[in-house]
Amino acid sequence: MEYMTLNNGIKCPVVGIGTFMLSPAQAENSVREALKMGYRLIDTANAYVNERAVGRGMRDSGVKREEIFLSTKLWPSEYENPNAVNETLERLGVDCVDLLYIHQPAGNWLAGYRQLEKAYKEGKAKSIGISNFEGEYIAELQTKWEIVPQLIQVEAHPYFTQKELRHTLDKYGVKLMSWYPLGHGDRSLIEEPVFAALGKKYGKTPAQVILRWHTQMGFAVIPGSKNVDHIRDNLNILDFTLTDEEMAQIAKLDKGERYYHRTEAQLKQFAGWQPDFEKA
Ligand SMILES: NC(=O)c1ccc[n+]([C@@H]2O[C@H](COP(=O)([O-])OP(=O)(O)OC[C@H]3O[C@@H](n4cnc5c(N)ncnc54)[C@H](OP(=O)(O)O)[C@@H]3O)[C@@H](O)[C@H]2O)c1
Repeated sequence: MEYMTLNNGIKCPVVGIGTFMLSPAQAENSVREALKMGYRLIDTANAYVNERAVGRGMRDSGVKREEIFLSTKLWPSEYENPNAVNETLERLGVDCVDLLYIHQPAGNWLAGYRQLEKAYKEGKAKSIGISNFEGEYIAELQTKWEIVPQLIQVEAHPYFTQKELRHTLDKYGVKLMSWYPLGHGDRSLIEEPVFAALGKKYGKTPAQVILRWHTQMGFAVIPGSKNVDHIRDNLNILDFTLTDEEMAQIAKLDKGERYYHRTEAQLKQFAGWQPDFEKA
């Protein structure tokens, strides 16, 4: 495994598995199998309603807790719940997480960020992060954070490389973790001819070339999968290196276009939605 060093000295694996849209049974299976294969980074969230299943997958894997970098996210409905962090840890079945994000700049997100800072001071979160904060939200948070976050989790892939955001956050040493790294199942990204050509050269699939690109951009990457063959492939990306010319070829795909367009109306809806934790 390769690791990146965060701005607080903690080491985070550069490749992990994401569990968005995985049912509890799928998440449990993917997490257990991934850890057995050598994964050490797991990403979940209150909102994925699979945290208990992720905890079971971790325990069943036989991998020691201290070897696993576990990341989860508080959902906006939890930002003002004083027990949100303890309840999250209870669902996961752990004493602390390695990374705790606030998931959205919705509702009373500053209260959510204060909960992260408190959890960090109490040792319940070894690092903290923000997710989906861009533009005005980043600008406001920068004036209010007491503890600088270690990571930001946002949409990033070769079509949308988050240049502006990276420019803003680089000076704080905030690392980027990419979501939708493979385009969330959209075939057009994976089928770009450049990835097939580079895959042929290195004996890799197009998806593996894209994931290697993420790590060489300095991103942590958490492809989601319920397919054991994909999960195996997605980890097997650290034994080749794209040249500078090849990275430049891939850079030409940057259209500044994201897949997911969030609106202010959606942020309002997010603030009003409560995950059904009974199902997690
Ligand atoms: N913070 C946020 O708001 C946010 C938002 C979205 C996602 N995320 C996080 O980011 C993670 C990744 O995003 P995502 O899962 O939505 O999108 P993704 O990783 O870009 O794509 C997942 C899709 O790609 C397929 N896939 C995975 N590996 C493959 C491979 N080697 N070859 C071909 N297809 C492959 C999966 O199908 P199979 O299951 O069949 O493999 C699935 O349909 C999430 O799981 C979640 O942890 C965070």
